[in-house]
Amino acid sequence: MSYKRVVITEFGGPEVLKMIEDTQLPGPKSGEVRVKVLVTSAAFTDVMIRKGKYPDVKEKPPFSPGYDMVGVVDKLGEGVTRLKVGQCVADLTITGAYSEYLCLPESRLTPVPEGLDPAEAVSLVLSYVTAYQMLHRVAKVKRGQRILVHGAGGAVGTAMLQLGKLLDLDMYGTASKSKHELIKQLGATPIDYKSENFVELIHTLTGDGVNAVFDPIGGDNFKRSFRTLRRGGKLVAYGFYNAVL
Ligand SMILES: NC(=O)c1ccc[n+]([C@@H]2O[C@H](COP(=O)([O-])OP(=O)(O)OC[C@H]3O[C@@H](n4cnc5c(N)ncnc54)[C@H](OP(=O)(O)O)[C@@H]3O)[C@@H](O)[C@H]2O)c1
Repeated sequence: MSYKRVVITEFGGPEVLKMIEDTQLPGPKSGEVRVKVLVTSAAFTDVMIRKGKYPDVKEKPPFSPGYDMVGVVDKLGEGVTRLKVGQCVADLTITGAYSEYLCLPESRLTPVPEGLDPAEAVSLVLSYVTAYQMLHRVAKVKRGQRILVHGAGGAVGTAMLQLGKLLDLDMYGTASKSKHELIKQLGATPIDYKSENFVELIHTLTGDGVNAVFDPIGGDNFKRSFRTLRRGGKLVAYGFYNAVL
């Protein structure tokens, strides 16, 4: 049976993404399962990989991108005992998920509870885990503290705001004007990074700055973010958006 997958033919813009058809389904090796992919995402990290600017991916094209996925176990390899055919699973694949089928070690896969929408579940794998780790394990924010989130209207940014609301954080988020209504609905004060000086505005609005700032923009933005902090605050730098575009 044939199956389709997307490959990057060379590093570059969206035009390097091509759909190909492989003539034979991959077979799971010992300890692996074959997964029929239901959903994957198109995150900014996939853009970095497509452009060859993601430090952790050393593969050279052609290869299939796709950082995360939720799918259904379709075939078991020898020795697989934990998972069953038909079970819903998730994985942070890093590459490979832009495919109808792929084989993965059983040990990597996380069972997805029944009844969840696969498209909602896949948002947890990369974007929400990143947001959760930064809030709770890196910055260790405490209930009621104040944070600034850059790219607040994006995938990780909106996850940060939703998780921050659960902690009653006082939140500020930079984004383009068109996303300001969304940011307000998520409980934060929007700042237009294109027309406003976020360093000055944070100090005007808060008095003494924020407890933590989360910055995926990079370059000069890190220095400016540092200046929004109150004494003892934390700058969490987790990307270099500007250097990729
Ligand atoms: N370290 C990690 O583990 C990790 C994991 C996941 C993602 N990341 C990084 O996190 C970043 C966001 O990823 P994502 O998937 O959430 O991307 P995304 O959905 O594309 O969101 C990025 C957002 O940033 C906004 N933006 C662009 N330039 C900005 C600036 N100068 N100031 C403020 N906002 C700006 C964008 O749009 P608007 O202009 O429309 O508001 C967009 O909403 C990327 O740099 C990615 O590499 C890191």
